[in-house]
Amino acid sequence: MRSSLVAVVSLALGLAVRASPVGSDWTLHEKRSFIPEGWSLARKLDSTAPIPLRFALTQPNIQEIEKHLYDVSHPESPNYGNHWTADQVADRFAPSPESIKVVFDWLLNSGVGPERVKLSPYKGWVEVASTAKEAAGLLRTDYNVYAHDSGKEHIACESYHLPAHVAPHVDFVTPTIHFDVPLSKRASPDTASGDSINAFGPKTSGEIVSDISGDLKDCHTTMTPDCVRALYGIKYTPVSGGKNSFAVVQYTPAGFLQSDLDMFAKKFNPGVVGKPPKVVSIDGGVVQTTNKSFGYDAEADVDIQYSSAILTSKQQVTVYQVGDLVEGGSFNNFLDALDKSYCTFEGGDDPNYDSVFPDTATGGYKGKQQCGTVKPANVISSSYGYNEADLSAKYATRQCAEYGKLGLMGVTVVSGTGDSGVTGNRGMCLNADGSQSTTGKRFNPTFPGTCPFVTAVGATQIKAGGSVTDPEIACKDHIQSGGGFSNYFAQPSYQKSAVSGYLKYHAPKYPAGTFNTSGSRAYPDIAANGAHYTVAVVGKFSDVYGTSVSAPVVASMLALVNDARIAKGKKPIGFINPSLYSSKFASSFHDITSGNNPGCGTDGFSTAKGWDPVTGLGTPNFPKLLSDYLSLA
Ligand SMILES: *[C@@H]1O[C@H](CO)[C@@H](O)[C@H](O)[C@H]1NC(C)=O
Ligand SMILES: *[C@@H]1O[C@H](CO)[C@@H](O)[C@H](O)[C@H]1NC(C)=O
Repeated sequence: MRSSLVAVVSLALGLAVRASPVGSDWTLHEKRSFIPEGWSLARKLDSTAPIPLRFALTQPNIQEIEKHLYDVSHPESPNYGNHWTADQVADRFAPSPESIKVVFDWLLNSGVGPERVKLSPYKGWVEVASTAKEAAGLLRTDYNVYAHDSGKEHIACESYHLPAHVAPHVDFVTPTIHFDVPLSKRASPDTASGDSINAFGPKTSGEIVSDISGDLKDCHTTMTPDCVRALYGIKYTPVSGGKNSFAVVQYTPAGFLQSDLDMFAKKFNPGVVGKPPKVVSIDGGVVQTTNKSFGYDAEADVDIQYSSAILTSKQQVTVYQVGDLVEGGSFNNFLDALDKSYCTFEGGDDPNYDSVFPDTATGGYKGKQQCGTVKPANVISSSYGYNEADLSAKYATRQCAEYGKLGLMGVTVVSGTGDSGVTGNRGMCLNADGSQSTTGKRFNPTFPGTCPFVTAVGATQIKAGGSVTDPEIACKDHIQSGGGFSNYFAQPSYQKSAVSGYLKYHAPKYPAGTFNTSGSRAYPDIAANGAHYTVAVVGKFSDVYGTSVSAPVVASMLALVNDARIAKGKKPIGFINPSLYSSKFASSFHDITSGNNPGCGTDGFSTAKGWDPVTGLGTPNFPKLLSDYLSLA
């Protein structure tokens, strides 16, 4: 059954089908049933072409990560706040010596010269300097070259196999079926249609806001920092200074303009005029100012302007600027820098995958790939994402586990959920075979919001003509809140009761398969206003929308909570989802019960009393959230 599927796919792609490669001692490890949109098969890879094969070893204790996370994050746990050190995390989840031995033995017995097999410094990977011919034999596959509409090429195969006794020790192998290609490379944010990592960029109505009254009664058309404070009851000035930390992450060439930050600060946050955020460069990250436009600057501008306004001049905002101007960077490049144990490669180059440093291209970053050189901030806000279906399940799962590890270390990772309701980025929905198209009928969840170890933030707005004291509604002006059910991640126990309530009483009646009803991770977790924001972008106040704004707004409120806890000698809040869904926090949110998140030719999901897949638990009631977290150990 499985191999016949492979054969059908191979035939459909016009590939030569190998004589049945799979004996009883071999198992199909991963396969793709379609080529991602924008790509097409170009040719068979030359058999002498070098292939830097990498085997991601399984992390035997990773299934326990949820249990460990609960231990330090559940509000009722006696160990609440007792986060782990990076070394404790690395030791706990290191691959077993047995896994290393099994993979080494198999490779050496298959005739791979011992000088070509090595273990990565943090033991997560076995690396082999191979060729297309040898790799195809080892994995019972064929390698092809695929071409993207943008002209970029990528080496991949349609499926691959491992000996049955090796398979349990290997998460996945690269390069194989994956297309997590950093297309942000060299691509302008203004034109990059296939630029999947950058796809959550904020949206604009195109309107230039010339009249900012500053009156709270205008918040329904002109959101300002005062509006945010009024909506969520934020009256708190940080006192912990350098002891607390907060960061937003940006991927080059997206970057902020200091002149925009100053323009905004003059109007709304005078204490920070002329005081730039702290920029931490990762893998050659630079804040480029050569190209200026909404596409290049809006994301970083909005993230910094609003978080800085909520945090006031008393808390420095850090910007993690990831990737050089030539190659750019990916989530994995970023995570490598935060945690040395996540470093996926060292030495060798893999130009078809996550960006490789040093970058040999003219103007590229010549330094070493950063591994664990950046101490993670207590709260990190990210407004970038993929469609889950852009990534293979194994690749996404491994990255998701890394967010869990950051939670164990006391870091809160906040991500926007995208702006297209139940439709994915680039207008894509899922087809029955798992491929994506604009005519698909199935909902297309976004990553990393579907990772159970990330706090996913959806978008709300003030209703037309409404005031800051009226209940908000699901965002419908220019964007719709991303939300729904993962196709990759099982449901974490912290949200079981909230989500089953929704499914029982409010699940929409769509044809089977429209969304995942198997009990998978549901998102978002919470929401915040994402409409009509006044943002200084390239010298003008623009009218801006998106979960790209909701995420840093929520993240900065969480940073204020950390400030208050640190001032009382307590630990930062770290992974917050188990507390958010706990009964203790039941009144920490303004429940959103009006609106929906249409997409894929449907009305999407409807908001409802309690948790819903549009606005999650609701928007923060800041004073209550603060007192709830201060009451914890
Ligand atoms: C700036 O724009 C030009 C023209 O589109 C492009 O060639 C160049 O790569 C861009 N630079 C950056 C840093 O994105
Ligand atoms: C639904 O989600 C689960 C993860 O909990 C996954 O195993 C399953 O394959 C998904 N179903 C579809 C049709 O994608």
